Amino acid sequence: MGIRFPNSVGLAAGFDRYARFLPYTQRVGFGFIEIGTINVNASKTPDSAVLATLDNLKKATKYSKNSVQRRGISLGSLHDGLTKQTEADFANGMMLFWPYADYLVINLSRPNSPTRNPSLEPKALTSFLTNIKRDHSQFASEFRRYVPIVAKVAIDHECNEHIPEILLSLKAQQFDGAVIAFENWPDISRVADYVSQLKSTNEDFPLIVVGGIRSCDDIEQLMAAGASLVQVFSSLITQGPLRMQKMISNY
Ligand SMILES: Cc1cc2nc3c(=O)[nH]c(=O)nc-3n(C[C@H](O)[C@H](O)[C@H](O)COP(=O)(O)O)c2cc1C
Repeated sequence: MGIRFPNSVGLAAGFDRYARFLPYTQRVGFGFIEIGTINVNASKTPDSAVLATLDNLKKATKYSKNSVQRRGISLGSLHDGLTKQTEADFANGMMLFWPYADYLVINLSRPNSPTRNPSLEPKALTSFLTNIKRDHSQFASEFRRYVPIVAKVAIDHECNEHIPEILLSLKAQQFDGAVIAFENWPDISRVADYVSQLKSTNEDFPLIVVGGIRSCDDIEQLMAAGASLVQVFSSLITQGPLRMQKMISNY
């Protein structure tokens, strides 16, 4: 992705949706954090959640100038389907949050996202991703700063047939990587097997892997399988910040 990360363990999206906990997550030692998901509606003025998040990010930029923690911003749309409206929501999100992001995430992992629908049309997906990437390139030249862009997709253990073609499409549209959320997988070694399978055909494409990580051994298995970075969410809650800090210090 062209970014230097202080370590390979990040805090997944959903924990700090409004960028309220940045100093605390820095202290736990996370190498990166994904703020959001922030749902933007392009046809309305920014709502109070969007404004509060922007405000928190502005403040954080001042007080954490020397922080090495990287910051992803996860963008969402509450419109269904891969439509012009959804595309406009993501474009609006990119425009608002560009100045505060080390990388941007197009979140296609929510439960009723079209990417999780068995009847997903590959052509519709490609055209949607092409348009998002076109908007992204335009902002990169307007802001005169390239911000890497990735998409987050979920892989349910029972339903994951679209993932290889989604990755191919992301790569073809020159996305900088993907966040892959593994849901309902029975154990981490099966996740690791699936990651190495994906890596065998996407060797040079960064994969950020999330879902079910509970220990250093889990992290090691996923990194050995080819994950570029990993993220945790539930373990911070179930194990607490001190154990998490210890776990991260190994990376
Ligand atoms: C309460 C809760 C809220 C979440 N919110 C988001 C979100 O807003 N955006 C997103 O991409 N993922 C969200 N997630 C998914 C997490 O980022 C992560 O992919 C998932 O929890 C699996 O990781 P874990 O097994 O370490 O918890 C959420 C998860 C939980 C439990």
